Amino acid sequence: MIEIETEVNRKVNFYFAPMEGITGYVYRNAHHRFYGNITQYFTPFIAPNSSRKLTSREMNDILPGNNANVPVVPQILTNRAEDFIWAAAKIQELGYKEINLNLGCPSGTVVAKNRGAGFLAFPLDLNRFLETVSREMERMGMKFSIKTRSGKDRPEEFEGLLMIFNQYPLERLILHPRVQADFYKNRPNWEVFGKAVRDSTNRVCYNGDLFTPEDIGVFTNQFVQVEEIMLGRGLLKNPALAEAAGGEEKPDENGFQRLRAFHDAVLLGYQEIIPGDRNVLFKMKELWSYLADGFSEGERLRKKIRKAGRMEEYLAAVERMFESCGLE
Ligand SMILES: Cc1cc2nc3c(=O)[nH]c(=O)nc-3n(C[C@H](O)[C@H](O)[C@H](O)COP(=O)(O)O)c2cc1C
Repeated sequence: MIEIETEVNRKVNFYFAPMEGITGYVYRNAHHRFYGNITQYFTPFIAPNSSRKLTSREMNDILPGNNANVPVVPQILTNRAEDFIWAAAKIQELGYKEINLNLGCPSGTVVAKNRGAGFLAFPLDLNRFLETVSREMERMGMKFSIKTRSGKDRPEEFEGLLMIFNQYPLERLILHPRVQADFYKNRPNWEVFGKAVRDSTNRVCYNGDLFTPEDIGVFTNQFVQVEEIMLGRGLLKNPALAEAAGGEEKPDENGFQRLRAFHDAVLLGYQEIIPGDRNVLFKMKELWSYLADGFSEGERLRKKIRKAGRMEEYLAAVERMFESCGLE
């Protein structure tokens, strides 16, 4: 019988996945303050274009003053080398040392413009893009990493893509082994990931569907040579996931107490920058669509949170959620 580690006994670095609309600087700051064992936080994508302007949302998300002491890697979504290079220079001016390219976004509007995972369907263009960008990043002294899916439509595409990626010195290749057409359906393809581990000339980081310490244990048992894991929704559901998997969970009596403090910090952070309760509530409700999974009464009380129209109703529903686990 194979024994499954629930704690990763060797050193694995955990990265916080970029999640647009959720893991902006307010969330990242709060997470970093209350939880540990994350090596780097990747920002939701910045999409530069020929206007040569970042939106104020994009700019605020990477301003050093909004990210003090948080290890952050900005991510860019584009298929135009000159736009990437322009944004990278801007980001470097702010003091960043690494930049990440998004080749994974499966959303229809992004893919329709041949960006994100849509770019994977154009290997010749992608190769030309990477040739220019990689050379320029080297010249600028910027580290350059890629976050990709395994293909646009079929996992067989990955072999050709890997031959392209292998031509460039990447800081790391982060692979979410699904194709764009999967969106979030089906399971990540570990066979394809195995190929990447075997044949990549760059360091490989795994991403996809690791939601519990047990999931992480199964993964690390199978891929003993992999030292880097990027976690997304698992951390949204359980912000202590990377600590728990690393055996570093802070010894607080009640994890819910810390979760409450974390929640309050995120809420306050949004209240400080978003005018009006309505949009603050929208953000918090999206968070609860993940967080509620960790509560025994989560399913029932999640509805109350979702239905809250005013801040007082929301706070009362949150109170009940925490009371349901014995925290007042
Ligand atoms: C709401 C949401 C927003 C996302 N936004 C981004 C993004 O801006 N950039 C990116 O590379 N991936 C984005 N992703 C993909 C995640 O980074 C990650 O690759 C994916 O969720 C799989 O990892 P997980 O199973 O650990 O969540 C997003 C995912 C979700 C659910």
